[in-house]
Amino acid sequence: MQVSHVTVIGAGAMGRGIAETAAVSGLQVSVLEPDEAQQQRARDAIHESVERAIRRGKAELASPEEATSRIGWFNSLEDAVAGAGCVIEAIPEIEAIKVDLFRQLDGACEDHVLLTSNTSSISITLLGAATSRPERVAGMHFFNPVPVMEPVEIVRGEVTSDETVEQVAELARRMGRKPFHVQDSPGFAVNRILLPLINEAICTLQEGVADAETIDSLMKLGCRHPMGPLELADFVGLDVCLSILKVLHDDLGDPKFSPCPLLVRKVNAGHLGRKTGRGFYDYPE
Ligand code: CAA
Repeated sequence: MQVSHVTVIGAGAMGRGIAETAAVSGLQVSVLEPDEAQQQRARDAIHESVERAIRRGKAELASPEEATSRIGWFNSLEDAVAGAGCVIEAIPEIEAIKVDLFRQLDGACEDHVLLTSNTSSISITLLGAATSRPERVAGMHFFNPVPVMEPVEIVRGEVTSDETVEQVAELARRMGRKPFHVQDSPGFAVNRILLPLINEAICTLQEGVADAETIDSLMKLGCRHPMGPLELADFVGLDVCLSILKVLHDDLGDPKFSPCPLLVRKVNAGHLGRKTGRGFYDYPE
């Protein structure tokens, strides 16, 4: 069965990007975001982003409203999932909260509904085990900024069915994304490779090998990365980087994933990157 209506849970940077991308590609979208201020920020950001995409010839729409009118905003789970064929969870990377949400989703959604998570590193098998339909649970891991980045890691849990994997990959294609199949392993493919790079850049800074600007400029010019690793860490969120490294370290048991103490100090200080205005760089309003 083809999915034409998706529910996105959470309207942070990833949730709003997923909602925008789905709406621009013609899908009906429901977003659950009970925090009113966060909901308003997400509505404004989506409008601005779609307007920009139209201006730059990236979206064939007559006006931003053509896409934004396809998005419904909700503050109750039961209302948000009504009529959807697939749920995409994009709440903070805290295992206990995600497990609890999957339990609630299982109770609120009809049996045929696919339950997916945009988690960067938490086990899809674990989230599936919180439901009575683990064969219909999969990972849909998007990249930030979602409207610009093409790939989606489609994560198969231990008991995810072939049919679910194909339906979720098809949904990603309908959203204009490129699905790539990966197994349910800590950090999947991208974050298992990316986070050690970011962590090593932070250790390089901590040891005084070079300052932040030098490290980032070298990686941009020397390796043709679009962003330097420290700038990218600020963009992703230092709390998110730390939580992914902890999962890699705990679940794979390899000391090479041990988070750099400077990263831990930044997170403890509440300097989480762009979203708090301060990380490895300052971001005045
Ligand atoms: N919809 C569609 N296209 C859009 C768009 C939108 N809403 N907004 C912008 N675009 C397009 C622009 O038109 C532009 O396309 P062209 O180059 O063809 O003109 C392109 O996207 C880039 O936009 P900008 O010119 O405004 O921005 P930029 O060139 O400065 O690039 C960037 C910004 C895309 C963020 C770039 O710096 C980049 O690729 N950075 C690396 C990002 C990255 O690595 N992300 C992954 C993070 S890891 C992650 O997300 C996983 C995790 O779990 C932690």
